[in-house]
Order: sequence, then C-alpha cells, then structure tokens
Amino acid sequence: MEKRIAVLPGDGIGPEVMSQAVRVLQKVAECYKHQFNLCYADVGGIAFEKIGEHFPAETKNICEKADAVLFGSVGGPLNEAHLPKWKDCEKNSILSLRKNFQFNANFRPAFVYPQLVELCPLKKEIIGDGIDILTVRELVGDIYFGEHSTTNSGNLRSAKDVAEYNEEQIAAVAHAGFQAAQKRRKKLTSIDKANVLDTSKLWRTVVTEVSANYSDVTLEHMLVDNAAMQLIINPTQFDVLLAPNLFGDILSDASAALPGSLGLMPSASLNAKGFGLYEPAGGSAPDIAGKNVANPLAQILCVAMMLRYSFAMNEEASAIESAVRTALEAGYVTHDIFVNGKKLVGTEEMTDAILENLTA
Ligand code: IPM
Ligand code: MG
Repeated sequence: MEKRIAVLPGDGIGPEVMSQAVRVLQKVAECYKHQFNLCYADVGGIAFEKIGEHFPAETKNICEKADAVLFGSVGGPLNEAHLPKWKDCEKNSILSLRKNFQFNANFRPAFVYPQLVELCPLKKEIIGDGIDILTVRELVGDIYFGEHSTTNSGNLRSAKDVAEYNEEQIAAVAHAGFQAAQKRRKKLTSIDKANVLDTSKLWRTVVTEVSANYSDVTLEHMLVDNAAMQLIINPTQFDVLLAPNLFGDILSDASAALPGSLGLMPSASLNAKGFGLYEPAGGSAPDIAGKNVANPLAQILCVAMMLRYSFAMNEEASAIESAVRTALEAGYVTHDIFVNGKKLVGTEEMTDAILENLTA
C-alpha cells in the first residue's frame, strides 16, 4: 500500500521521538512492502520562529493532502512562556488543528503493562488482573469552543466561557465510543454532570438513545466527580469511558497517571470522514529535549494507532505493539520508567530494542 503521511515533529522532545517513530515506520514499510511518503511540516514554536504563526497555512495544506497526520508535541519552557513564540502556542496549534479538521473523537488508551506494574501508583489489590481503559473524548464542542469573553465593567473584572452541545455532536462521538466498546470488553461508562448541567442532561439522553443501536454493549452513566474517585479506588471496572470535551481532558490525564509515565501514552483524534491525527499524550518536555533520554514509546505507539485506525493495517499495528512489549519484557526502559534491576537506555537504544523485535 502507498500512503502519504504529514509529519509534524513540533517542539521540545517532539523532533527526537518523531525521528525514532519514523525509524519504526520505515521498518514496517520494509517488512510489509508498503510505501510511506512522509511530508514534514512545522507546527508550534518552531513554526512561529520560522513563519510567524503556530499553525501556518502551509502546514494546514500539507495535512489536507495527507492520508494521516503524525504529530509530535508543541510548547516551550515555563520561564520563556512570556515570549511571543510560546504565547498561546498549544491553543493556537492543537485547537486549530482540531477545529480545522473537525477531529471530534479522541481516543486515549491507558494500559498498565504487566512488565511495568510496579510503576502504577495504585496498590496491587486494586490493579488486580490489570487496568485497560480507553477514554473516548468529544473534542470539538463543549466549553472549549463556546463563546469566551473577559469584561471589566465598573472596575469589576468578569469572564465567561460558554459550554454548548447539540444532539448531533453528542451522537457522533457516542457512536464512536460504542463501536470502540464492541471491539473491546463491551462496556461503556458515559461521563456527565447531569445533576447540574443542561449540556450533561442532553448528553445522557442522547447517549442512551444511541445505545439502542448497540445492544451488545452495556451502558452505564456516571457523574464526573464519582468517576474521578472510581478511577483511583476501582479502575478495573472501566472499559470505555465516553466523555464530553472538558471532563474527558481531565479524566484522561487521571487515567494517564495509572501506567506510570506519560511517555507511554499515545492518542488518536478522528473526524467523521475517518481522517486522523496521532499524538502522544505527554507534552514537549523541553527540560529533557535533545539529551537522548526521552521515552519514544508514546510516539511509536502513535504509529501503531495510525496504521490500525487510518490504514486498517491491523497486523502491522499489532507487530509494533508486540515489539514494544517484548522490549519491555527484556527489561529495556528509559529513565521515566526506570526501576532497579532494569536496563536503562536512551531514546535511540530503546527504539533499537523495538526494531530488533519487529519482523513480518
Ligand atoms: C490535551 C491538552 C489540550 C486540551 C490543551 C493543550 C489545549 O491538555 O490535549 O489534553 O486541553 O485539550
Ligand atoms: Mg489535557
């Protein structure tokens, strides 16, 4: 198969973990006789520096012409946050991409690897047979994209952010959530705050209506505050968590704490046409950039998600995931997932260990 991929390395550790992910992609191409045409484009602080915008039109064009987008990370160090290069960098690049391509469904898996169980901050009896949660987050509605304003009337400063959903937006992401649950353990927990919010009442009604199409999936509703608690005291009850944009943002970070490192967390954002962007959940980590210490696994697992979701290359995706597991079983770890007795390696060597196990 021949595919065109827009590659947006971005800032911080983005470029170095992206180059490792590209090594894995090229190995897949070799083993399975595919051709991946990579089109590099700038996004974030690096794009601002070169072109004066965080998400330039040229980058948008390259993404539009591609079959999928592989995204690194954007953003700069805290002590430089005041510079124009970094001001609103994440918002301008990430939210613009989401809005422009209408990536309405965001998939964030949180999986505790048995090989790394000691990194999970929870007690053994709570981890049980393992934690495997997929958050499906609505990504282009809610308080993120409603009206925002700040006023100062009579010297009283006020601000507002409007949360809004229509039934079509809710139904679209609900279908994505139920379909994901059908391929997993067939349970979907829908998150809302229906005891207070109108958007949540509509969310609950529409999700219940959509569930009629998926009689093989068990639906449960849970208030977001309870869900935050349950993620810590009883996470094994969850299979798919379906959440509105803001609640999904927060709960997916809570679930990301369970595997032990953000460096392990890939994510996928898809639109109604099935076009997708693949992005590690962690940030640009400028403090460790350029030192060959960043964990490349999240970016490499993004490649696996891209092959599966965008190109239906299930075998190739599974081959990457299993090569990652084999490398972890062999004890290879980067500094963020290091525990005594394991083999501490750098970004490149971690990838070498994966490439060694990657065969058709
Ligand atoms: C995320 C991030 C973004 C969000 C920020 C950077 C705008 O936290 O992808 O979860 O809030 O969606
Ligand atoms: Mg977030």
